Amino acid sequence: MNRPAILVTHPLFPAVRELLDTHCLPEYWRGAQPMPRAELLDRAAEKDGLVCLLSDKVNEELLVRAPKLRIAATVSVGYDNIDVPACTRRRVVATNTPRVLDDTTADLAWALLMAVARRVVEGDTMIRTGKWTGWEIDQFMGTDVWGKTLGIIGFGRIGQEVARRASGFKMRIIYNNRKHASAEAEKEFRATFVNRETLLSEADFISLHVPLTAETRHLIDREALAKMKPTAFLINTARGPIVDEAALAEALVQKKIAGAGLDVFEREPQVLPALLPLSNVVLTPHVGSGSVETRTNMGLRAARNVVAFFEGKQPPDALNPEAIEKP
Ligand code: NAP
Ligand code: GLV
Repeated sequence: MNRPAILVTHPLFPAVRELLDTHCLPEYWRGAQPMPRAELLDRAAEKDGLVCLLSDKVNEELLVRAPKLRIAATVSVGYDNIDVPACTRRRVVATNTPRVLDDTTADLAWALLMAVARRVVEGDTMIRTGKWTGWEIDQFMGTDVWGKTLGIIGFGRIGQEVARRASGFKMRIIYNNRKHASAEAEKEFRATFVNRETLLSEADFISLHVPLTAETRHLIDREALAKMKPTAFLINTARGPIVDEAALAEALVQKKIAGAGLDVFEREPQVLPALLPLSNVVLTPHVGSGSVETRTNMGLRAARNVVAFFEGKQPPDALNPEAIEKP
């Protein structure tokens, strides 16, 4: 059988290329910048498959330009970059990379939580700028994390790993989902379901782990922020548009909440300028899953989905298996 022609919008990593090179005829984008949209539309035109990043939009425009496309595999668990119904209509299978990044992303949520609560970045900056003159009893006093209430919005794979890490901090864990988690999961993570209002008003730390959908866009808006305690912190490693960034900046400036840790932003790579001078915010550039091991595993997972599909099997992470044509 002829090997399928695929477009890969980033060279990814050697182990991933080895797998793709063995089974497919890949064309890798090797530009210094992310692949421009025009290049993506041009180069996808004659391809059978696509391995893309969360910054590449797989929508009607691209599907029209790539009539031979059969699979679009995003190297991310979030798939808000893919119009799945449009893919299904055109019999294109869409896949993502669940599970392999749960621990790494939960670790980053915790890194942000600890950094903002214990003022790690402020202290680091003081030392590096030569402004530290010695120990003082009331210098950079932070907020205790241990023993507090952690509120998790989106108690799925990553949200549960965030909860797991809280047990060492002797925290009370409350969560909100559309549906209750299983009784086993609630027991394992010592987590209690509460409605969103209760979570917003009782949590000392709120960590967001919902996907970006029409329903979750601006889930944390001015009204939601107003329900939080003035001593509470918001951590967002999910997707930027889940939070109204302008309302968040206002709440932080006016000390309506104590602080925030943000890995994702409404208009990446732009960050709302009002956030930048604030010392009660810690910012990271969308690196939730950004460890060597995890990014490699994500690339391998995407590649395995593509290889399985062209071997006539159902890709393990098919988001729309109904798009697969029956022989
Ligand atoms: P997941 O296992 O599907 O969990 C998502 C959870 O959100 C589910 O428990 C779901 O439960 C809940 N949910 C969905 N809509 C909701 C709503 N409207 N209100 C309340 N809860 C809702 O997904 P995951 O693998 O943990 O990933 C979560 C997200 O994290 C991804 O979609 C991605 O955007 C983001 N992420 C970011 C990074 C990063 O680099 N910063 C890395 C990995 C993932 P119900 O269906 O019961 O509501
Ligand atoms: C990263 O943001 C992901 O969704 O995997």
